Amino acid sequence: MNVRRCACVFFESRETASFDLAGLLAGGAGVARTRRWLALAPHLEQEIEVSEAEMTWLGRFSPQLWSMADAMPEDILSRLLETGLLVSDEPRFASQRAAEERHRALNWWPLAAVVHKASCWSGVDSVASMQRLGMDTVAGLLRTCGTPPPAVAERDGCGPDIPLQRPPADSLDTLLERRTTCRNFDPERGLEQALFARMLDRVFAAQGSVIAGEGIEFLKKHTPSGGGLHATEAYLLVQRVQGVPPGLYHYRPHEHALRPLPAPAMPLDDLARRALAGQWWFAQAPVLVIYAPRVARSYWKYRDHPKAYRALLMDVGHLSQTLCLSATDLGLGAFVTAAINEGELERAFGLAPLCDGPVAVGGFGWRAARQEIAEFDPVGKVWGCAGLEP
Ligand SMILES: Cc1cc2nc3c(=O)[nH]c(=O)nc-3n(C[C@H](O)[C@H](O)[C@H](O)COP(=O)(O)O)c2cc1C
Repeated sequence: MNVRRCACVFFESRETASFDLAGLLAGGAGVARTRRWLALAPHLEQEIEVSEAEMTWLGRFSPQLWSMADAMPEDILSRLLETGLLVSDEPRFASQRAAEERHRALNWWPLAAVVHKASCWSGVDSVASMQRLGMDTVAGLLRTCGTPPPAVAERDGCGPDIPLQRPPADSLDTLLERRTTCRNFDPERGLEQALFARMLDRVFAAQGSVIAGEGIEFLKKHTPSGGGLHATEAYLLVQRVQGVPPGLYHYRPHEHALRPLPAPAMPLDDLARRALAGQWWFAQAPVLVIYAPRVARSYWKYRDHPKAYRALLMDVGHLSQTLCLSATDLGLGAFVTAAINEGELERAFGLAPLCDGPVAVGGFGWRAARQEIAEFDPVGKVWGCAGLEP
C-alpha cells in the first residue's frame, strides 16, 4: 500500500483542568491538569486525539510523495488511515482520500485553514453563553474581565499635538453619523421590493465587467475587493419583502436577479434565529444577507498565500460597510455579526465549509418605532435622545 500524509495538519498539546478532590484534601490546589495531543486537520470534521507515537509516525511521511508504510506498526497504520490523517491508494480508504484531496485542491494557506475550520460553529447559542458567563451587562463584564484597556492608545509624542479643523458637516458626514447598528427591526413591516432591489444593486451588483483574458473576468462593484476578484457571494434569507416569496436565494450580480434555492428543513424564522446563534434581535430583520467567500476564486491567484484569508475577511467587512451605509441612506436599519452558526447556514444553503462557507451575516429593514433592546446612539442621531450603552 502507498501512503502519504495529509497536506495540512497541526498538533496542539491541549491542557484540561478539572476539580481534584483528593489533591485538595492532600493540601494541593484541588485542580488536576492533564494534557493530550490533538491533530487539527481542516479536512476532517473533528479534531483527533493522537498518541505521541502516531504523531511521530505521521511526521515521517511526505505530504507530496507516495511511499510504502511497511515499517509502521499495524495498529498505528490503521488508526492513521481510518482517521484520514494518512492518505492511501487503497479503495477502502477512498472516502478519506477524497476529503483530503478536495481540501488540497483549494490551495488554502494551512494555518488559515485551521483557524477557519476551528472557528466555525454549529448549534451554539451565543446569547445563552454570554448570559451564563455573566458577560451580557457592563457590570458583568467588569466582574469577569476587569477594566478594559483605554478607548484610545496614549503615545508619547515627539512634539506638541497639532489640532485639526472640524469643517461643517456635509451630506456624507450626516449619513455616517446616522449609521447605527439596528437591533430593533419592525417585526410586522415588510420591505418594499423597490428598496430591497436598490439595496442589492448598490451593494452586490456588478456595475460593469471586463474580460481580461481567456476565462478571466473581473467585475466592477461599488466596493473594493482583494485582487479585484470579488470572491464573496451574497446568499439571502428573505422573510418579509413585498412581492418576493419568503425563502432562500442566491443573488446573481450580472443579471441583478434572485435565484430561488430549495426550502430549508425548518421554518425560516427558526433558521434565522439559529443561524444568528440565538440573537433574536437580528433574526427579526426582513432580509438577512449571508456573506460567503468562494475561496477557490481568491486562492486561484493567492494560492497558499499568508495574506489571502485576511483579504477575504476584509472584503466581507467592506461589503458590510457599503450595505450599512446604503441602508442608512434609504432610512433603513442594518447590522453585521460574526457570531453565527456556520453549520446551520451551510446545511440550509448547500455550502461546503472550506469551499464557500459563510463568515458573517448582515441584515436590513425598517426599524421598529420603539427601542426595546439597546442600540448605541449616544448623540441621539437615530433615536433622538441619549442612547443606551452598546
Ligand atoms: C465584525 C462585527 C461583528 C459584530 N457582531 C455583533 C454581534 O454579534 N451582536 C451584536 O449585537 N452586534 C454586533 N456588532 C455590532 C457592534 O456591537 C456595534 O458596531 C458597536 O456596538 C458599535 O455600535 P454602532 O455600530 O451602532 O456604531 C458587530 C459589529 C461588527 C463590525
